[in-house]
Amino acid sequence: MADKIELTINGQSVKADKGMTILETALRKGIYIPHLCHHHDLDPVGACRLCLVEIAGKWTKIAISCKTEVQDGMVVRTETPEINEMRQVTLELLIADHDTDCLACEQNTKCALQRVADHVGVNKERLQRLKSREVKAPIDDSNPFFNFDPNRCVLCGICVRTCDELQNVQAIDFANRGLGTKIAGFGDKPRIESNCESCGECIVRCPVGALTEKDYMKPTHQVKTVCSFCGCGCGLILGVRDNRLVSARGDVSSPANKGRLCVKGRFGYKFVNHPDRLTSPLIKRNGEFVKAEWDEALDLVADTFSKNKGEKFAAISSAKTTNEDNYVLQKFARAVMGTNNIDHCARL
Ligand code: FES
Repeated sequence: MADKIELTINGQSVKADKGMTILETALRKGIYIPHLCHHHDLDPVGACRLCLVEIAGKWTKIAISCKTEVQDGMVVRTETPEINEMRQVTLELLIADHDTDCLACEQNTKCALQRVADHVGVNKERLQRLKSREVKAPIDDSNPFFNFDPNRCVLCGICVRTCDELQNVQAIDFANRGLGTKIAGFGDKPRIESNCESCGECIVRCPVGALTEKDYMKPTHQVKTVCSFCGCGCGLILGVRDNRLVSARGDVSSPANKGRLCVKGRFGYKFVNHPDRLTSPLIKRNGEFVKAEWDEALDLVADTFSKNKGEKFAAISSAKTTNEDNYVLQKFARAVMGTNNIDHCARL
């Protein structure tokens, strides 16, 4: 069992595990400390400087809570006039360099910057004194699944760390210096020309609306299921609206993927409602596929199979189906068709 540490946050006695940071401890206890660059899946970097706290006792100092480990007897205050002043300046500088078209942003009401602004408070007069960006940076919409809007980016680096630490792809990084700093792929080329695998893990973790899914629609209800693309069995939560699939996200309670998905699971759901999807069998007549009834198609299959038993026959099974379906197909190949020519797409 992990060693327990006892400390005080805002006068409240709190228990934590050894190795936890002050920010993790506070959030677990339901005490909000403003933050932007922290994500529980990633190593802390201390980039946004919003999570300041005051530590009293022998440690007396102002520290960033996302990188400071808890220690026995610590006395922490998350709000003091000095901290609030520093936080407000940092926040105003961030907002001055950020698009504020919140109603047109997919992250509206879920945005971490909105939450920080709501908590810290924004002074309109002070904000107006700050010069905002004159020329808008172009939106990178080259990826078929998501857009990157640098005007909404807060340079927290969560996308960079997700791509590096979790996905091991390293498609993006910080480019340039000072005011010109931005997130970019190698050579600042459009995202589609980078080695991005379009897994979308960066979109899920982006705390603001800089990375957003194309054609996003908010679902009215959600359904828990398992991804049908391969045999990994990743947990999926599908979003439904007007009887159509409009979103997919990883199920964090699934032991197979713990919430993470690849490009197919996250974005490959549109075939379900696609107008080109086959909904009835097709039979080739005079070189053309024509629609047929199920009975007619199944009779044709049975007739053709019975004329091609033995070594003339081979079957390839699919990872998109269940273990039981795969078992039945190999049984069918061996027992009914009289051949061992049976394989599975997972070996291809
Ligand atoms: Fe600690 Fe950003 S959350 S510096």
